[in-house]
Amino acid sequence: MCGTSILPVKTSDLCFYEMGSSLSEFQLSVGAMPMNCVIVGAGGHGRVVLDALRQEGVHTVVGFLDSNERLHDQRIDGVKVLGSLDLLPMLRENGIEGAIVGIGDNGTRRSFMQSILDHGVQLVNAVHPFASVAGNVNLGRGVLVAAGALVCAHCQIGDGVILNTGCIVDHESMIGTCVHVCPGAKLAGRVTVESGAFIGIGATVVQRVRVGHDAVVGAGSVVLKDVNPMTTVVGVPAREVKDLGDPDEFTQWLMPETLRR
Ligand SMILES: CC(C)(COP(=O)(O)OP(=O)(O)OC[C@H]1O[C@@H](n2cnc3c(N)ncnc32)[C@H](O)[C@@H]1OP(=O)(O)O)[C@@H](O)C(=O)NCCC(=O)NCCS
Repeated sequence: MCGTSILPVKTSDLCFYEMGSSLSEFQLSVGAMPMNCVIVGAGGHGRVVLDALRQEGVHTVVGFLDSNERLHDQRIDGVKVLGSLDLLPMLRENGIEGAIVGIGDNGTRRSFMQSILDHGVQLVNAVHPFASVAGNVNLGRGVLVAAGALVCAHCQIGDGVILNTGCIVDHESMIGTCVHVCPGAKLAGRVTVESGAFIGIGATVVQRVRVGHDAVVGAGSVVLKDVNPMTTVVGVPAREVKDLGDPDEFTQWLMPETLRR
């Protein structure tokens, strides 16, 4: 599904919230064209992305962008922090065609991804060579698959997803846009994780469960049943401890003003 709608759309089993015409949930995996690229975010996660890109050896990382002025002109693992996101309009004329957001927070990552696309810069993927991705997996754009991550047959991985170090995403699972699956988390077969959800470090989600959009699954939790959108669940078995807002209100917020009730 690719379109101009920003309404919540159901595609197959997934619920996505599109932010504009250019941020689609899936793209078929195609051979990556090598390009010069930047990493947005020069913090800890940005370094993980840098390492994955270097080890993968497809794209050339020419710099970081970060809004923290104290980092500007400094080098992170040998790569210069060029400046803030204000440089986005100048990237292409300087031969930089690609970017990836190296920020763990799902909302921030989504917003910066959209800015990148708005400036005609492509979102590149970083797939560490020690990750295993089945040949029939569909990977979106701006995706990190970190070292030791396993992504099994027929999974669908949306734009801006982080599959962090050593996580497992088992067969036919569907991961929506800008989801973060933290290190060591395990998703069994046919799990659906809707857009913006956060699966904490070492959490386990059993087969066929659906984790609602923007939900948070606490570290080490074991999820045995569906998780409501915009809630926090923790523990073994996982139980709801927080309501993070009204999903309907959230949907309204995403709609163009003319369509709001
Ligand atoms: C789930 C989480 C987000 C909750 O944070 P929070 O919204 O600030 O919630 P609180 O800390 O107020 O905790 C609410 C309750 O849940 C409990 N709780 C929080 N996290 C828990 C967890 N992972 N397992 C079991 N119980 C947990 C708290 O003890 C508290 O219980 P109480 O009300 O009986 O005192 C956080 O604890 C967590 O697990 N974060 C994941 C961190 C992570 O994976 N980092 C990796 C980054 S790559």
